[in-house]
Amino acid sequence: MSPSKILFKLTGSIACYKACNLISKWVQEGHEVQVVASQAALKFVGASTFEGLTGKPVFHDLYEDGKQMAHINLVKWADITVLCPATANTVNKLAQGLGDDLLSSLFLAHDFKKPYFIAPAMNTAMYRHPATQGSLQKLEAWGINILPTGEGRLACGDVGEGKLLEPELIAKYVDHALARPAETSTPKLRFLITSGGTEEPIDGVRSISNFSSGRTGSEFADYLYSQGHDVSLLRAERAMPATELVAETTFKSFHDLDHGLQELLSTQHYDCVIHLAAVSDYTVDHLLINGEKVDPGTDTKFSSDEDITLNLARNYKIVDRIHRYSKNANVLLVAFKLTNNATEVEREKAILHLLEHSLADIVVQNDLTEVNPEKGQHRAAIYSGNRLDKHVDTKSDLIQSVLQLVSQSIQEKENTDAALS
Ligand SMILES: Cc1cc2nc3c(=O)[nH]c(=O)nc-3n(C[C@H](O)[C@H](O)[C@H](O)COP(=O)(O)O)c2cc1C
Repeated sequence: MSPSKILFKLTGSIACYKACNLISKWVQEGHEVQVVASQAALKFVGASTFEGLTGKPVFHDLYEDGKQMAHINLVKWADITVLCPATANTVNKLAQGLGDDLLSSLFLAHDFKKPYFIAPAMNTAMYRHPATQGSLQKLEAWGINILPTGEGRLACGDVGEGKLLEPELIAKYVDHALARPAETSTPKLRFLITSGGTEEPIDGVRSISNFSSGRTGSEFADYLYSQGHDVSLLRAERAMPATELVAETTFKSFHDLDHGLQELLSTQHYDCVIHLAAVSDYTVDHLLINGEKVDPGTDTKFSSDEDITLNLARNYKIVDRIHRYSKNANVLLVAFKLTNNATEVEREKAILHLLEHSLADIVVQNDLTEVNPEKGQHRAAIYSGNRLDKHVDTKSDLIQSVLQLVSQSIQEKENTDAALS
C-alpha cells in the first residue's frame, strides 16, 4: 500500500485513547497523519500525545494565527478523513451542516470524491436517539462511510450498542479504502445485493424453502467490496455471509425480504441492485388439519400424527417492484433467471417475461443443468436489456462481467442525462 495522507479527527469521548492506537499504527506504516481535535477531545487526550505520535502539531482552533485557512487547506491535502471517535454532538452537528469550529468547518468544505469515515462512540441512549440515528442516515446518504458500533460494556457502565468499534476493525475498513487503486477508472458505486432463499413458515419448526445457499451473493459482495465499491448485503438468515466488512441485514420470509428491500431502497441511494435472492412464489395461507382450517404459526408445532394439507397463496414478484421502491429513479437492476433443463426457446421466453415485468437492465440466465459448483462450472448468459451480451462459464467470469456491464451501463446513463440537460 502506498503512503496516504490521513486527516484524523477526534471528538470528546473517553474512546479518544483507543484512537491513539490507530494513529500510531498508520504512522508506523508510513502514512502521514494530521490530527484535528475538538476542544472536548483535548480534555480526554492531550495535544502532546497526538503531536508525539504524528510528529505534527495538532489543529484545533479555527482562528489560530498563521493557520486560518486550515479549514480549506487540510481538505485539499488529505486523501482520506477519519472521524474517530465521533460524539453524538458532532454527528448531529455535521448532519445539520453547521461549522462553528475547525472540525465541522472542515466537513463543510469536504470533497465528496474522497472517502470520509465516521466511527461513532457514545452511550446507547445517545446512539439510539432519533436525532443521532437520523443524522447517521443522512450522512450515509451523502456518501459518508458510517462504521458500525461495537456492543458491550460502555464507559458509563451501561451495556449495549454505541461502543467504539474495535480499532483493528476500523483499520480494516479504512485500509480497504486506502488500498483502492488510485488509478482505477471505474467510479465508486453503491450496490445492494439480495441473496439466499426465503423460508415460508408452516409452524415453529417447519418451513417451505428452496436450495439457494446464498454463495453467489456473498461472492458478488466480496468481489465488489474488494474493488472499492460500497456494498450492502440483504441475505437470508441461513445464507452464506460476506466478509465482515460488508454491511449486512438478514431476512427470513418473503414478507421480511420485501419489507427489508422497501426500507433500504426508500431511504438509501443505491446505484445498482443485484437481486439474487431466491424468492418463494408461494406463502402458506392456511392448513387443513383433519379437515379443519388452521393458520400457520411460528409459536406452535403441528403433530405429525395428523393428516395435513397445505394451502398456498401466490406471492407477487418482488423483482417487479424494485424500481418502484427505489428513491434513486435511475437505479440499475440486475435480475437473475434460473431455469431447469430448459430449451433455448424456453430460456428466451423466460428472459423476455422477466424483462417485460421487472424492467431489469441486465438479466443473468442460467440453467440448473449447467451449474456444477464441484467442477467450478457456472455457465450463464448475460443480457443487457434483450440483447445477449455474452456467455460465461465460471462464477468469477460472471461476477467480473456483470460489474463491467453495470459500470458501462451507469456511465452510458450518465452521459445520456448530461446530453439531455
Ligand atoms: C467523561 C465524559 C465522557 C464522554 N463521552 C462521550 C462519548 O463517548 N460520546 C459522546 O457522544 N459524548 C460523550 N461525552 C459528551 C461530549 O464530550 C460532549 O457532548 C461534548 O460537547 C462533545 O463535543 P465535541 O463533539 O465537539 O467533541 C462525554 C462527556 C464526558 C464528561
